[in-house]
Amino acid sequence: MSVCFRRILRWTTNVILFSGSLSITEWRPVTGSVPPRNQADWEAEFEKYRASPEFKVLNSRMTLEEFKSIYWMEWIHRLWGRFVGLSFVVPAVYFVATKRVSRSMSARLLGIASLIGFQGFLGWWMVKSGLKDDLLAPGSTPRVSQYRLTAHLGAAFVCYLAMLWNGLDILRGNKLLSSPPATASSTLAALRHPGLRTFRLAVTALSALVFVTAMSGGLVAGLDAGLIYNEFPYMGNGLTPPKSELFDPFYSHTPDHSDLVWRNFLENPSLVQLDHRILATTTFSAIMALWAWTRYSKSLTSLLPRAAKRGVHGVVGFAFLQVTLGICTLLYLVPTHLASSHQAGALALLTWTFVLGSRTWLPSRAVQKLVMERVGAPTLGGNAAAAAKLRDAATASAASAATPMSATSLASLGGATLLPLLGLGLGRGGSGGVTNKETLGHEDVAPAGKMLVVQKDQFLARQRGIKSS
Ligand code: HEM
Repeated sequence: MSVCFRRILRWTTNVILFSGSLSITEWRPVTGSVPPRNQADWEAEFEKYRASPEFKVLNSRMTLEEFKSIYWMEWIHRLWGRFVGLSFVVPAVYFVATKRVSRSMSARLLGIASLIGFQGFLGWWMVKSGLKDDLLAPGSTPRVSQYRLTAHLGAAFVCYLAMLWNGLDILRGNKLLSSPPATASSTLAALRHPGLRTFRLAVTALSALVFVTAMSGGLVAGLDAGLIYNEFPYMGNGLTPPKSELFDPFYSHTPDHSDLVWRNFLENPSLVQLDHRILATTTFSAIMALWAWTRYSKSLTSLLPRAAKRGVHGVVGFAFLQVTLGICTLLYLVPTHLASSHQAGALALLTWTFVLGSRTWLPSRAVQKLVMERVGAPTLGGNAAAAAKLRDAATASAASAATPMSATSLASLGGATLLPLLGLGLGRGGSGGVTNKETLGHEDVAPAGKMLVVQKDQFLARQRGIKSS
């Protein structure tokens, strides 16, 4: 499912970058699945397109045959969107209706399904902004609103990341619950080490920064701001254009210019491109700082699971790739293949940042509780009713982990399809890929002291081939 989502994102970009994307001038969620079937239908569709600003200003010489090719491109994109939506919604409804998933997972599935529906609406809202008559005014360029394009891009990213996160979460829980109790509890103890808290916060902040940078890229694409200042690192005579150009009163809509700053930030191509450069440079520097921290801080290095260290290298690799693609996109005047790859690169970078996060994140409370119960340790705090509730949830997770249904639920969440492609190596690393050797060192500082004594004994007994009591 996540792969489908990535494809549709790529296709959206191609449709927008290549064909203009406004060939279908209506949104008919159901009947729109049927394309024109005869000459009269085609003529009628073409007539509607001929009334649009895009035709009048940019494509007034377009023939019916040429129109058909851009129409098919957009039609396939919309059909693919419907297919992606249904292939998620139908299994999700089945799992929820037959109570095959826990209550919290049902809520998450329904949340993602609603987001997919909302995404369809946002797509149409975006296209509609390119069909307005005021785009025919002298000096206007018929294109979709950069705000709506960025909202559409952002919602697609959020939807994809929600699927990815749930997939990773389930895989991690399953891996923990299917590994030997002593290994699982030592992994958990390592992940609970307070020293990892700051690292987790840093990865969360980094994910937010990459997301914001990607959204600023959406504004660049929406304004065609990549077609000015096609050089790097300079922009004209200096590292930035002159202040008078960056904060140009032309973009203000009020007589007192009270909106001068924010309008220029979001609508002036020169400043929008500069913002994207600054955010990209900050993101790249933050990633390099994270790498240096994991490489040179002895305390962090000793705590960090091996899979997370590999994850940091992945993030660094994708950051280099993304910055290179961005600069090439700019230098070569935004050719479709480079712009497309640059967008895919942003998604890959975010994906890998999430993967890194998942390798140091604590599993859900339900899974934690079950792991602790399996080693006979005291469970998390709370009253008896809450504990019973948690036990039920944990048992549901365990049941789904143990039955063939778990694979199906995973597929519906996207994890099963995406993860093999990404070569996440979770099989090797598991939830954080903490080795016994790595975890033993920190058992004494994790919170559940008694549990740690039990698990340490069990672990040592297992190592020596003695059956533990
Ligand atoms: C962490 C680094 C970066 C991230 C996450 C990122 C992300 C993005 C995203 C998501 C887009 C929108 C693509 C689309 O919707 O078509 C974009 C557009 C763009 N980015 Fe970046 N970018 C980064 C670095 C850079 C750098 C260093 C440059 C060049 C100096 C650059 C130049 C551009 C240009 C020119 C566009 C517009 C492409 C178009 O018109 O389709 N980016 N970026």
